[in-house]
Amino acid sequence: MPKDDPTPPADFWEERYASADRIWSGNVNHTFVQVVEQLTPGRALDLGCGEGGDVLWLAQHGWDATGVDISATATQRGADAAKAAGIPDERIRFVAADLGTWTPDGTYDLVTASFLQSPVHLPRVDILRRVSEHVAPGGHMLVVAHAAMPPWAGNHAHHHEFPTPAEEVEALGLEGWVAEIAEVRTREATGPDGEQATLDDTVVLLRRA
Ligand SMILES: C[S@@+](CC[C@H](N)C(=O)[O-])C[C@H]1O[C@@H](n2cnc3c(N)ncnc32)[C@H](O)[C@@H]1O
Repeated sequence: MPKDDPTPPADFWEERYASADRIWSGNVNHTFVQVVEQLTPGRALDLGCGEGGDVLWLAQHGWDATGVDISATATQRGADAAKAAGIPDERIRFVAADLGTWTPDGTYDLVTASFLQSPVHLPRVDILRRVSEHVAPGGHMLVVAHAAMPPWAGNHAHHHEFPTPAEEVEALGLEGWVAEIAEVRTREATGPDGEQATLDDTVVLLRRA
């Protein structure tokens, strides 16, 4: 991502979400479920939650779930979906905020970030490192990222970073944490225009010792 990118991130993402009734499928991410269903529910925080597919899944599977995203349109869609699904307010909440400056309250048993990647300015590693300080001892941080450019990513994709598992673990540089998963997982996916592709996800699950 170029440092001189002129587009304010909040404007970019707000315009992106406002451009359609729905940007993502609304479904939970496949790789996310594979990993999180092995963990014991507690208090969870999803960073860059978009329209909230992963947050809803957490709340529906015993977690006390909070999702944060820079787009108020996206978080409102998440809150609407939670209401439509009948999830009680005390189990789920959405916050519209810039993670570059937002500070979590208290501690979490799980912090997740699914595809927290952006073609405009995003201090991704700084955010992950800062929020990792709010993971309780014994708690986990799950980071899932595109390992390569999805074929439908378009003109903005060249600004993206696509970390390998080793690069992700090294960049986070979390001392006193154990990497329980650091691998690439492959999945079938459908693009916005219905096109099919096999995608590689970088999956890193860290546990705070
Ligand atoms: C590729 S989308 C992934 C959305 C969702 N996690 C998912 O898996 O469908 C990246 C998300 O990060 C959000 N985002 C980008 N920069 C952000 C920032 N500085 N603070 C909070 N959210 C941000 C965007 O609004 C967008 O929803």
